[in-house]
Amino acid sequence: MPITTCVFDAYGTLFDVSAAARLAAQEPDMQPLAECWAALAEDWRRKQLEYSWLRAVTGVHCDFWQVTQDGLNWAMEARGITDAPIRDRLLQLYRELAAYPEVPGMLAQLKQMGQSTAILSNGSPGMLADAVASAGVGDLLDDVLSVERVGIFKPAAQVYDLVEERFGTRADQVLFVSSNGWDAASAKAYGFTVAWVNRRGDPVDRLPGRPDHVLSDLSGITELKVF
Ligand code: LAC
Repeated sequence: MPITTCVFDAYGTLFDVSAAARLAAQEPDMQPLAECWAALAEDWRRKQLEYSWLRAVTGVHCDFWQVTQDGLNWAMEARGITDAPIRDRLLQLYRELAAYPEVPGMLAQLKQMGQSTAILSNGSPGMLADAVASAGVGDLLDDVLSVERVGIFKPAAQVYDLVEERFGTRADQVLFVSSNGWDAASAKAYGFTVAWVNRRGDPVDRLPGRPDHVLSDLSGITELKVF
């Protein structure tokens, strides 16, 4: 079946999650971040994701804003940073993440091609609304689907089911795009056609499901031989 619907992961795929720590580190009064912002950003992201998976496995759900804060608390303590204003600023910047530069043009081209476009993300509805607004891409998306509709994080199949429920598509009509190797693998195992945006040149994840396409950024999406 031809692809009719392009669905994007949000954090790390459309929005640059390392930008919050990078930008905060350049601001006055953020000296403790100057040397460690990159490591802190790595720890923050890793813990945020680990907590999401562990909460999915244990069934003790909370929203992604909570695991984002919990991950940051861990990452700050690991670096010995205790300043509340630094924490507040990092969280504020996380709500205003920029999109990667190629995102608006790529989404506009997909719309011109007649594709439906959406986000499917672990993010809470409020976080996603803020990110979409600050990136200015709301008009280029038909919907923003949050896992809060089903109360469990990716890669639970109920999350991927949201695409069919919203768009009335079969899995083989969906191109799913993620920069997260585990998300790309799981979406492929679910039945979507998958493009993995491997921005960092990581090895492929050893999980069921291998992505159909591997790209270094999103600019090649519209050229894929799936349309
Ligand atoms: C998301 C995270 C996993 O947006 O990046 O769902």
